[in-house]
Amino acid sequence: MHYFTASFGGHFLTFTAAAASYAYGDSTPNHVVQDRDIQGTATINLAVPQGTPEHLASGFIYGIPDTPDQIPDDFYIDMGFRYTRAGGSQLPAPARGWVYGLDDFQNRFASALANYNTARKYNASFILLVADVWGADGTAQIEMPGDDGNWTNYDLFLDTLFDSMKAGGMIDGVDFEIWNEPDLSDVFWQRNQSQYLEMWGRAFPRIQAALPGMPIIGPCSSSQPSTTNSWYAEFYPFVLANGSVPDIYCWHEETSGDDVAVDIENNQAALAYYGLPTTNPTIINEYALPSEQNPGSAAWFISRLERYDTLGLRGNWASGYALHDYFAQLLGKPGAVEDCTSSSCNITTGYWPNGEYNVYKYYNLNMTGQRVQTVSSPDSLFDIYATTGVNGETPTVKMLCGSRLTSGTWDILVTGLDAIGLPAEGSITIQSYQFNYVDGRFGNVPAPVNQGTYAHTYSNSELVFYVSPNETTAYAFEFVL
Ligand SMILES: *[C@@H]1O[C@H](CO)[C@@H](O)[C@H](O)[C@H]1NC(C)=O
Ligand SMILES: *[C@@H]1O[C@H](CO)[C@@H](O)[C@H](O)[C@H]1NC(C)=O
Ligand SMILES: *[C@@H]1O[C@H](CO)[C@@H](O)[C@H](O)[C@H]1NC(C)=O
Ligand SMILES: *[C@@H]1O[C@H](CO)[C@@H](O)[C@H](O)[C@H]1NC(C)=O
Ligand SMILES: *[C@@H]1O[C@H](CO)[C@@H](O)[C@H](O)[C@H]1NC(C)=O
Ligand SMILES: *[C@@H]1O[C@H](CO)[C@@H](O)[C@H](O)[C@H]1NC(C)=O
Ligand SMILES: *[C@@H]1O[C@H](CO)[C@@H](O)[C@H](O)[C@H]1NC(C)=O
Repeated sequence: MHYFTASFGGHFLTFTAAAASYAYGDSTPNHVVQDRDIQGTATINLAVPQGTPEHLASGFIYGIPDTPDQIPDDFYIDMGFRYTRAGGSQLPAPARGWVYGLDDFQNRFASALANYNTARKYNASFILLVADVWGADGTAQIEMPGDDGNWTNYDLFLDTLFDSMKAGGMIDGVDFEIWNEPDLSDVFWQRNQSQYLEMWGRAFPRIQAALPGMPIIGPCSSSQPSTTNSWYAEFYPFVLANGSVPDIYCWHEETSGDDVAVDIENNQAALAYYGLPTTNPTIINEYALPSEQNPGSAAWFISRLERYDTLGLRGNWASGYALHDYFAQLLGKPGAVEDCTSSSCNITTGYWPNGEYNVYKYYNLNMTGQRVQTVSSPDSLFDIYATTGVNGETPTVKMLCGSRLTSGTWDILVTGLDAIGLPAEGSITIQSYQFNYVDGRFGNVPAPVNQGTYAHTYSNSELVFYVSPNETTAYAFEFVL
C-alpha cells in the first residue's frame, strides 16, 4: 500500500544507516518509518570513483534540421550533444534514396551531409545510416542489395557513396553503419538473413579499403544479443569466420521491458561464447520507447549507460520533417507537430526546452568532477547517477535519479561520506530539484522546479533518504556543504 502519493516526490525522511536494514513490515505499524512502502534501495558509493563524466547518453538519432544553425548553439552545447546518426530518412521525392535514382540519392545524401556538418560543429560523432541513403524507409517495398544474386547495383551504390563521402569531407568522426535493424525482416531488411550476411561480408573489406580507419558499426539490430538469440547465432559466427567483426557493436533498446544492464552483460557472454573480441566498444544507437521519453526514464537510461561506460543515442519516433527536428523529442517551438510535412513547420524557429531536455542539461552542465559508483534498486525500476567534485575547497555531491514508468518510493543510500572528508556522523542539507514533464514532448519547461532543502542526520559515514517519483518525474539532489 502506498501511503504517500506520487505528489510527495522529493520529500524525504532521515534515517541512520541502520535504516537500510530495517524491516519496513508489520512489526511497528504505527511508526512513521513503516508508513512507507519502500520498493527498494539504490546505492551511491562516494569512495569508488568511476572516471570523468563524458555524458555518454547525450546522443540522439536524427533530430537535427537540414538547414544549418536552425536550432541555436546553446541547445547543443548545454546538453553536451556528442553523437548523432542520420541518412536522410523519410524525406520525400526527390530525396528518397539510391533505389529511386541518382537525384534522389544526391538529395538524400545532402541531408546526411548537412547533419554531419552540424554534428562536427559541436565536435559530435556521426553514424552514417547507409540503409536510409539506400532508401529503406520502414516498410517501403523496394529492391534490396543482392536481390536475385545480383550485386551490381549495390557495388555501384557503395562506390558512389564512398565518392560522395570523400567529396563532402564526411570522414572524421564518422562510423559506417552497414544496415539498420537487419533482423526486422518485414521492415528495414525485407529479405532473409543469408542475403544480409553476404552483403555484410562483401561490404566490410570494401569499406576498409575505401575509407581506411573508419570504424564499421553493426549490426544495429532491433533485438538484443545473447547466447539464445537465434539471429545472433548466425551473425556472430559468420563475422568471426569472415574476418569482418564490427569495430563497434550496436543494437537497440526499444522493445518494451529491455534493460540495457541485462543486455550489455548478455552481449559480453555471447561474444565470449562465440569467440569474438569482448573489448570492442558498444553503442546503443537507439534507446527508449516513445513512452520512455520523459524525465524519469531519461535519468534511468542515463544511469545504466553510465554504469556500463556505454554510449547511447535516443531513439526518434517522429515522422516527416519532424524526424529532422526537435533533438528526438527534447525541444518544442511554435506550431510544432509530430508529423511535419510542410514548410510551415520544417524551417521555423523559436525553440524551447521540454521537461526532458532539462535532465540532459543538468546531467551535462552540473554533474561535473568524477563519476562515482552507483547500484540500481534491485527491482531495476529505479536508478541513479552521481558525481563528486570540489567547488573551491568544498566537496560537491550531485545525484540524478528516476524510475522507469513507475511511481513508487525508493530509498537512496549514500555510503563513503568519509571519502569526501565528512565526519562519520552529523547532518547534511540536501537541495532538491524536480524535473517534470509539463505538456509533454512540446511542453515549454524553462527549468526544473527548485524544491528547496532538507537537513538529514547520518552516522557511520552513511546517509539514507527517500524519493517518490511518479511515472515521469526525475530528481536531482545536491549536498549543501
Ligand atoms: C572532440 O571529440 C573527440 C572524440 O569524440 C575527443 O577526443 C576530443 O577531445 C574532442 N575535442 C574537443 C575540442 O572537444
Ligand atoms: C544485374 O543488375 C544490373 C543492374 O543493376 C543489370 O544491368 C544486369 O543486367 C544484371 N545482371 C544480370 C545477370 O541480370
Ligand atoms: C535466401 O534468399 C535467397 C534469395 O531468395 C535464396 O536463394 C536462399 O535460398 C535463401 N536462403 C535461405 C537460407 O533461406
Ligand atoms: C566474407 O563473406 C563474403 C560474402 O559471403 C565473401 O564474399 C568473402 O569472400 C568472405 N571473406 C572471407 C575472408 O571469408
Ligand atoms: C521544407 O518543406 C518544403 C515542403 O513543404 C520542402 O520543399 C523543403 O525542401 C523543406 N525544407 C527543408 C530544409 O527541409
Ligand atoms: C547548473 O549549472 C549552471 C551553470 O553553472 C547553473 O547556472 C545552474 O543554476 C545549475 N542548475 C541547477 C539546477 O543547479
Ligand atoms: C507527476 O508529477 C508531476 C509533478 O508533480 C506532475 O506534474 C505530473 O502530472 C505527474 N504525473 C503523473 C502521471 O502523475
